[in-house]
Amino acid sequence: MTSGADPGTVFVLRTPLANANITQSIARSMDLESILFTQGFGSRRQCRALIAAGRVSVDGAVCIEPDTVFAVDGLMFEVDGAAWHYREHAYLMLHKPPGYECSRDPQHHASVFSLLPAPLATRGVQCVGRLDEDTTGLLLLSDDGKFIHAYTSPKRKVPKTYIATTRHPIDDAQLTALSDGVLLHGESKPIAAAAVLARGERLLELTINEGKYHQVKRMIAAAGNRCEALHRERIGSLALPATLAQGEWRWLDAADLLALGER
Ligand code: URA
Repeated sequence: MTSGADPGTVFVLRTPLANANITQSIARSMDLESILFTQGFGSRRQCRALIAAGRVSVDGAVCIEPDTVFAVDGLMFEVDGAAWHYREHAYLMLHKPPGYECSRDPQHHASVFSLLPAPLATRGVQCVGRLDEDTTGLLLLSDDGKFIHAYTSPKRKVPKTYIATTRHPIDDAQLTALSDGVLLHGESKPIAAAAVLARGERLLELTINEGKYHQVKRMIAAAGNRCEALHRERIGSLALPATLAQGEWRWLDAADLLALGER
C-alpha cells in the first residue's frame, strides 16, 4: 500500500479580472487536536488521547499538547510513525481489484474502503462513481462533495474509457451499433459510445460520457455480444498509472488534477 507522504495540494483560484490562474497560499492555523480530527484520526476525544500518549509528532518533534497551534498549509505530521500531510480535502485514486464492492456496507464481497488506511474512511472519503464488483481499474475517491458531484453529474459528461473483453469476436455491425447508439432497457433514447475501437478480436475500447447502471455491459449486450471482463483505463485525460498495482492507492497530484480538468 502506498503512503501519504507527498506534497499537499495547492489550489488555484481563477480570477475573471485577469482571466488567469493565480496560485494563492492562504495561511491557516489549527490546534493539533483539530488537525487530527479533520484528517480522520477519530473522535476529538480519541485524537486528544493519541496526542497525550506521545504518538503524534509534527515536523519531527513529538507534541503531547492537543491545544498547540500549527500552520496547516504544507504541514507534515506523523501518527505512530506513519507520515501524513495535512489536506483540507482528500483526492485519491485506487487501482480497484476484482472482488471488491464500492460500498461502505458491502453485501457479498469486501469493500474497497478496506484497501485504504482507516483515517481516509473516517474522514468521509467516498467513491466518485461506482465500479461493479468484478470491474477493475481506475477509481477516484474524495471527501470533497463538489468534486464528487462534478465527476458524477450527468451534465458534466466526463468521458470514461473502458477495456472490455468480450465472449464473441467483435464485428463491424457491433462497432456500428455502439457508435450509432443502442437502446437500453428502461431508457427512452439510444445511448451512443463517445468512442469505440476494436483493440483485438475480443478486446473492445469503449468511451462513455454517462455513468448508468452496468452501462458498458448492457451496451455490449445490446450490440449483440457479451462482456466477460471489464477494466476502467481512463477518466477524462487521467489514465490509470502502470506503476499502480491492483489494490494500491495514491493521492492525486497536481498533474492528475490537471488531466481531470481541475486546474
Ligand atoms: N459499466 C459497467 O457495466 N460496469 C462498470 O463497472 C462500469 C461501467
